[in-house]
Amino acid sequence: MKRVDDFRLKLGNSELVPIMTGGMGVDISTADLALEAARLGGVGHISDAMIETVSDRRYDTKFVRDKLSLYKFNVANEDKTAVKFHLGKLAEATRLHVEGTMNRKRGSGMVFINCMEKLTMNAPKETLRTRMVGAMDAGIDGITLAAGLHLGSFALIEDHPRFRDVKLGIIVSSVRALQLFLKKSARTNRLPDYIVVEGPLAGGHLGFGMDWAEYDLATIVAEILQYLKNEQIEIPVIPAGGIFTGTDAVNFLEAGAAAVQVATRFTVTEECGLPAKVQQEYFKASEEDIEVNTISPTGYPMRMLKSSPAIGDGIRPNCEAYGYLLDANGKCSYIAAYNREVAANPEARKVKVFDKTCLCTQMRNFELWTCGQLTYRLKDTTNKLPDGSYQRLSAEHVFKDYLYSVDNKVALPPMPKELTT
Ligand SMILES: Cc1cc2nc3c(=O)[nH]c(=O)nc-3n(C[C@H](O)[C@H](O)[C@H](O)COP(=O)(O)O)c2cc1C
Repeated sequence: MKRVDDFRLKLGNSELVPIMTGGMGVDISTADLALEAARLGGVGHISDAMIETVSDRRYDTKFVRDKLSLYKFNVANEDKTAVKFHLGKLAEATRLHVEGTMNRKRGSGMVFINCMEKLTMNAPKETLRTRMVGAMDAGIDGITLAAGLHLGSFALIEDHPRFRDVKLGIIVSSVRALQLFLKKSARTNRLPDYIVVEGPLAGGHLGFGMDWAEYDLATIVAEILQYLKNEQIEIPVIPAGGIFTGTDAVNFLEAGAAAVQVATRFTVTEECGLPAKVQQEYFKASEEDIEVNTISPTGYPMRMLKSSPAIGDGIRPNCEAYGYLLDANGKCSYIAAYNREVAANPEARKVKVFDKTCLCTQMRNFELWTCGQLTYRLKDTTNKLPDGSYQRLSAEHVFKDYLYSVDNKVALPPMPKELTT
């Protein structure tokens, strides 16, 4: 019976363990988590979502405070066109995070960065180019293009000296999205080095409509493998979304996948950026506690725990400090939803907004608990402790469980020392 460890992912000249930890913004897939995956021979992702906030937290900078003080005059204004990111500062935050991570890298694996196109930052092209260039300058091993079709993203960086040596990948949820991407990128004479195929059970934003339940990852992966074969294009295909055990992973590897991307199992590890209290919510969740809704201003459906404090929380938009979802015209659908509620409830000290959420602020504060569909199985991956809480896992334990488990088994971690003596 095969185990994941019987397979290897070939990327260029490198041979890697075929496990990728997925990018989870905002700093949920921390440098520590990504570095563990790389140390163990796989690929770990960091994320550049809200990179200035992450830099302030991790590297003692003051980007957010400075941006807010610059635009404070605009806080009550519905029109956010004036609120721009300073590209030099954005590059500096990216450099700090990427360099700070790469300098600590050990082992034979790689560290990639997840770059979401939907972070339009009131100047989509310029900010995306700055983020990607900043990551390449700072020595990132690879960039995974996420949350968007990225039809122009290769062209934005084709002049960069590392354009042909850095690993570049794209996340798609359909053959159609892949075809569009390949067609538009062909002009740069460069194929992606890998394709992550994300199915409907993933965490974060989904590349499906609210009819997500009608789709199935294995079917989409088979379609994409067939398409690549017909076109005689060889690119490693990496399925993601609901791959919960080593056996799930082996099934994909035997069907022609080159590796798997996984995330949910790692949300309850010590290295993950989620606060320990929030991790207990993930452990406790039952299947009924998980929903896909449309409150993200990106326009993509998003999966989360129904108990997320963000849902309904009518806070004032915080674009002067953050503003990562402002479109090219300085608009975010949460601003309109919030102002509508304020106008309808002039007496209220605080309004409720249910149709949209202030995603930047809520993700920054870990109040929006996005998760994969199989989060309800996390409780079966660990020990319940005498105080009723669940034992957090190490990333190494989860990684090795994927690597070596058979028969759909999940290995429980050793009990904490203080409970065994
Ligand atoms: C908490 C959480 C946050 C996520 N955030 C992002 C993100 O910022 N960008 C992205 O492309 N994917 C994001 N994802 C998706 C994962 O990278 C991954 O592809 C997917 O969740 C894999 O499925 P699994 O969680 O069932 O293993 C997130 C997933 C989770 C669980």
